Amino acid sequence: MCGIVGYIGNKKSSPILIKGLKYLEYRGYDSAGIAVLDKGQIQTYKKKGKVSLLESFIKNKKIEGNIGIAHTRWATHGEPSDKNSHPHLSNSGEIAIVHNGIIENYQSIKKILESKGYIFKSETDTEVLINLIEDVQKNTKTNIAEAVRLALAKVVGAYAVVIMSQNEDTLIVAKNGSPVVLGVGDGEYFIASDATPLIEHTNKVIYLNDGEMAIIKKDKLIVKTIKNVIKIPYIKKLDIKLEELEKEGFSHFMLKEIYEQPRSIRDSIRGRVNLKNGEIKLAGFEEILDKFKNAKRIIILACGTSWHAGLEAKYFFEEFAQIPVSVEYASEFRYRNPVIYKDDVVIAISQSGETADTLAAIKLAKEKGATIFGVCNVVGSSIPRHTDAGSYTHAGTEIGVASTKAFTAQLTVLMLICLRLALLKKCISKNKVKKILEELDSIPHLVEKALKEKDKINIIAKKFKNAKNFIYLGRGYGFPLALEGALKLKEISYIHAEGYPAAEMKHGPIALIDENMPVVFIANKGPSYEKVISNMMEVKARKGIIIAIVTKGDKDAKKIADYSIEIPETNEIMMPFVASVPLQMLAYYIAVLRGCDVDKPRNLAKSVTVE
Ligand code: AGP
Repeated sequence: MCGIVGYIGNKKSSPILIKGLKYLEYRGYDSAGIAVLDKGQIQTYKKKGKVSLLESFIKNKKIEGNIGIAHTRWATHGEPSDKNSHPHLSNSGEIAIVHNGIIENYQSIKKILESKGYIFKSETDTEVLINLIEDVQKNTKTNIAEAVRLALAKVVGAYAVVIMSQNEDTLIVAKNGSPVVLGVGDGEYFIASDATPLIEHTNKVIYLNDGEMAIIKKDKLIVKTIKNVIKIPYIKKLDIKLEELEKEGFSHFMLKEIYEQPRSIRDSIRGRVNLKNGEIKLAGFEEILDKFKNAKRIIILACGTSWHAGLEAKYFFEEFAQIPVSVEYASEFRYRNPVIYKDDVVIAISQSGETADTLAAIKLAKEKGATIFGVCNVVGSSIPRHTDAGSYTHAGTEIGVASTKAFTAQLTVLMLICLRLALLKKCISKNKVKKILEELDSIPHLVEKALKEKDKINIIAKKFKNAKNFIYLGRGYGFPLALEGALKLKEISYIHAEGYPAAEMKHGPIALIDENMPVVFIANKGPSYEKVISNMMEVKARKGIIIAIVTKGDKDAKKIADYSIEIPETNEIMMPFVASVPLQMLAYYIAVLRGCDVDKPRNLAKSVTVE
């Protein structure tokens, strides 16, 4: 969950490195640092805290050199501190490294190195790795590339590393389990954990695969495996636009992304639906059509918000495709001994495509013979490269740590997969599919309407910004949404919040209800509406404060609730797409009122690439 950046070329490296770190700060911001090679000397500058602190620290320093590496950290081994910050130097100070990942066997390596007289200034696994490389180079008298290759052969764990030596105008990049991408410039190369820092410089990129390394000079790049097999790098052209990355006038990326949802839902439908004849075209689905046809069950693997999207999808699939669906936390699935049948289809849902637990879980399912279908947002990320087929959500770059547009884009793609499967299994008529697709096509417009409630939501947020706890309740399609609404609030406002099936309250949690407990109900019209109204009455009878997401014009629910937020009428299956908006906005405005760092909440990172 760290961000790494590298540059080698004819420009001054430090501004490129700092700007690159800013694009990657969503991956972790406990500390940041840069190292540049200037007249045969490595200069390192690193600080606890965000990149902006590092930037002011180096502001008046004379930093030359056109080769450099940089890092923004999410602490794994060793607390956030100056000494644990990357880049790390070897004992001689002649080689430097930045690293994203975890070296599992670093303790045993550290012991051996200490017995040889190496000393360690930090508690990190990364400092062990750079001294292992130094030790190998001393013993083998090889160049830095070969020393790195030999050293990595001794390492167990996940890494994306960039190494720099003061004795060679070369950067060495290596990948295993953590993301890294190379930008190909004109007489210069860029390295980063994802493509966002690269695109203002070049749209030509090379994605290294696990077990590969790149040896980069200003005018030459060689890719080989750690086993020393030369590879022909594939140069891919990217189509991310820079303006996607700017806030475009919004105060936070999260707010911008909430407002992008009509566009991102539309983009996730575009080209996949023929409204006239009710046809659905998903290239990835067609690639494994028989697997879907013969599947007796679907297993969904995901984490966090993506797991909530999977839970909604369970309701879709069971209703329309009549297939059993089990929705698993990837982090639990990977450490059980799950029963997998050869005809199982696994759907892996991930915005970043880099979540370590989800990646490990699909690798396990694949080893046991399942077919893997990916629903990811980042093209070329690790998870799509480990699936048998997949469909990308077209939400565009999502920078806010709290996932919003990716969630509703996931619901969109999962709905299309479900309907395509229902048609394949002849569980649903074409006419019914046509009708649902028309409703889906109207969702962006209904989301636009829901966005207009922002002022009312802000007023409610002002009343509850100092609440200590929240409970979110829903039934049916509203239950996964209750979980998602609670997650949004806790992860950006740091207020404790729990989501529950509304009926579950009487089995214990209702003891929590009193005049200090705000309870958010997803209380839209639908099959479980009457039951939800009863649950609202139960909370009201115990003086709970009710905030209800209601269907526009629903006077009954509004009469019971203390505060209500209206959304346009939809049928039950489409409600999650629209009701997500007030839940996202309520969390956003409360977090802003509490002065929280909405786009980079404490302790979190956008992409959890370590377990
Ligand atoms: C969602 O708001 C969180 N940032 C987090 O739960 C996230 O959904 C989870 O880490 C999974 O990430 P992924 O979708 O990139 O795999």
